[in-house]
Amino acid sequence: MPMTLRSNRSTLTQFLIEERRRFPSASGDFNSLILDVSLACKGIAKAVAFGELAGVMGNHAADEGGSVNVQGETQKKLDVLSNEVFMQRTEWSGSLAGMASEEMDAPYQIPKQYPRGNYLIVFDPLDGSSNIDVNVSVGSIFSILRAPQEVIDSGRDVLEADFLQPGCKQVAAGYALYGPTTMLVLTVGDGVNGFTLDPNIGEFMLTHPKLRIPEDTQEFAINASNARFWEVPVKRYVDECLAGKTGVRGKDFNMRWIASMVAEAHRILMRGGVFMYPRDTKDLSKPGRLRLLYEANPMGMIMEQAGGRASTGEMPMLQVKPTSLHQRIGFVFGSKNEVERIERYHHEPTAKAELTNPLFAERSLFRD
Ligand code: F6P
Repeated sequence: MPMTLRSNRSTLTQFLIEERRRFPSASGDFNSLILDVSLACKGIAKAVAFGELAGVMGNHAADEGGSVNVQGETQKKLDVLSNEVFMQRTEWSGSLAGMASEEMDAPYQIPKQYPRGNYLIVFDPLDGSSNIDVNVSVGSIFSILRAPQEVIDSGRDVLEADFLQPGCKQVAAGYALYGPTTMLVLTVGDGVNGFTLDPNIGEFMLTHPKLRIPEDTQEFAINASNARFWEVPVKRYVDECLAGKTGVRGKDFNMRWIASMVAEAHRILMRGGVFMYPRDTKDLSKPGRLRLLYEANPMGMIMEQAGGRASTGEMPMLQVKPTSLHQRIGFVFGSKNEVERIERYHHEPTAKAELTNPLFAERSLFRD
């Protein structure tokens, strides 16, 4: 494409400055943090795009500092690199009191040579990375919280407890999607806006203003290989979708599963749909697959800000009080009416009775 010298589109910088004008007392720290995050995402986008050419594919070698993260998952080279890029780009500016990441067991302290600020950032530097070697779209997810006042006043090191704030307390959330184009999708609590990276000038341009998720859908996403571990309400919902026109829903549904949550969330944001990674009985030590603080909460805020809904299946995701930094949780999000239907199924007396009835427990006569 020839270089576009003239454009009516806002850049991310322009968008942030114009948003900030609504808050005359704002210091600019928040905007600078978002711009630092966007720069981290541009760096990661480049590394992802060069792939094998940059020697960044494959697993992180044990002799280079480890190969399994706190989740017990194999770390890819790009997980480690993306984590470093995020830290390096955001730690210096004085806007952060501390940070936490999927790839680090404990909170990361802002090094002493830098000032400490008012915000906490929690991120998954490369979501979907188990698929990176097959060239599937992956992404980065981030959540920004205000640090507790006492942390701001004292400038002390951050503790795990400082991050354990419900999703409704998030100041901002977003993701970058490294797909055919690189996009940054952002909410600062006033709707959701999508920006596309213009490779000619290296800047995110506002291409998808004020995104809204259709309230109804005929598309769902779930890893069906877990069907035998699902709880009754989830099984009922999926069975009804599969029955299509001939069943109680009276319409056919389509199914998608990319196994990269950022890519699924983006599809849902663009055209509606419902995503489920529900709590199940596969491994009772894991109450769900996805992580609350850096996957479900930021994606939940984006969904709700775009008119969709985010839930544990039983209650609004953004109301959940976290209990640990790397907590896992069942996650259902997308088109509002479908998510509400799934919640309703969880609350219906029959579902509740079946869930507590030993006949319906794992390996019971009534589970298939
Ligand atoms: O959390 C990591 C993740 O890769 C998500 O992006 C994705 O939705 C999910 O795991 C895929 O899980 P599974 O491999 O069970 O389909």
